[in-house]
Amino acid sequence: MKITMIGSGYVGLVSGVCFAEFGFDVTCVDSNPDIISRLKKGEATIFEPGLDEMMIRNIKEERLFFSTDLENSVKEADVIFLAVGTPSRRGDGEADLHFIEQAADQVAHAMKDGAVIVIKSTVVVGTNSRIRERIQKQRPEIRFSMVSNPEFLREGSAIEDFMRPDRVVVGVEDERGRETMRKLYRPLYLRETPLVITSLENAELIKYAANAFLAMKVTFINQVADLCEKTGGNIQEVAQAIGMDKRIGSKFLHAGPGFGGSCFPKDTRAFAATGLRYKAPQQLIETVISINEERKVKMGERIIKAAKEKNTDTVAVLGVTFKPNTDDVRESPALTIIKVMQEAGLTIRAHDPEGEEQAKKVLDNIVWCSSPYEAAKGAGVLTIITEWNAYRALNLKKLAELMPSGKIVDLRNIYKPEEFQDIDLDYISIGR
Ligand code: UGA
Repeated sequence: MKITMIGSGYVGLVSGVCFAEFGFDVTCVDSNPDIISRLKKGEATIFEPGLDEMMIRNIKEERLFFSTDLENSVKEADVIFLAVGTPSRRGDGEADLHFIEQAADQVAHAMKDGAVIVIKSTVVVGTNSRIRERIQKQRPEIRFSMVSNPEFLREGSAIEDFMRPDRVVVGVEDERGRETMRKLYRPLYLRETPLVITSLENAELIKYAANAFLAMKVTFINQVADLCEKTGGNIQEVAQAIGMDKRIGSKFLHAGPGFGGSCFPKDTRAFAATGLRYKAPQQLIETVISINEERKVKMGERIIKAAKEKNTDTVAVLGVTFKPNTDDVRESPALTIIKVMQEAGLTIRAHDPEGEEQAKKVLDNIVWCSSPYEAAKGAGVLTIITEWNAYRALNLKKLAELMPSGKIVDLRNIYKPEEFQDIDLDYISIGR
């Protein structure tokens, strides 16, 4: 079976490489020639643990190809995945579908009779049907199947998530679509992964509802952390105990500076906007969005307060990516926190194991440092914004020497207050 993946960003590239690993013949297409020429050389264009290796192996074994030529790549394809971006539209928060429409038009023009078109991009309910009609109008003479196959992979563990998902969701309208998807995911259900076969609309709703729920769970625990701070509670103990209730579950209960990334912020906005459009308002999610926005600013203010106390104008920031094991800084809480601190006149000395290059595109006037210790030099306050492994076992004595009587603001709770008992540093964290 020949697969063509349109869009070689996060979802497209990881899915394409993993389908090649299953043994299918895959061509990943992107309109950006720089991306394609790097990928052809076996250079992953995103930072994702394990991806390079798998890419190189499948290129060598001649199952994985890259191209900028959409028309020729689609002509012979049995299955065409659309994995282009669906960014937030400015103003109303609705998902901007113009990349998907553009890709669908190009595919319509080039595809063969009997092809299966699968939308992998996150698209609001109703989009798959609309795209099907759009293609039908352009090629009334051919038969094709429309499939919705949303992706649940997380950055930083994308390959593991693709290879061992909790479930695969497939929205279909006909037998050919259903059978094709069964064949594609056969390697997974040999591992007993549940394959949820449903309607196009349900598949679209499942994707948004899942991300909205997870964003709500994070926001919930962040607010409980605020209450813990005021009442002498400890959020980690509270979260651990409520998570033992299987109805609640222990995952996504880590309090922090607020959620970020390329998915939760844009998907919650689109979900709320869809609710309003259909007159089924999603007030819970609307509230989640505004709490999360306020939280990032409040985190900045918390550090500014610490800097005032310590009479310093320099803050060391450890971690700018929205989470560890990625170089992605999109909507990272660190961006808002840093801007709030800069507006208050603070100088920022920052370190991140992978995020510097991306962060430089959106942040100005940062002193970039080669290590956490370098960042601490001359700072009175050091804040940990992203929980990279590299920050979990810092030499606290050395930090205290670099910033005597300074303060650590740990926004990810990776240290315990007791660890600072004999160290000349103050320590505050979240919800403890
Ligand atoms: C998220 C979902 O987890 C994936 O299932 C989904 O496929 C993906 O969006 C998508 O729609 O493409 P991702 O954005 O990679 O994945 O990151 P997460 O691991 O979900 O983290 C999102 C944000 O929540 C991060 O800023 C993280 O720091 C924050 N978070 C997460 C917390 O603050 N606390 C937690 O307990 C968990």
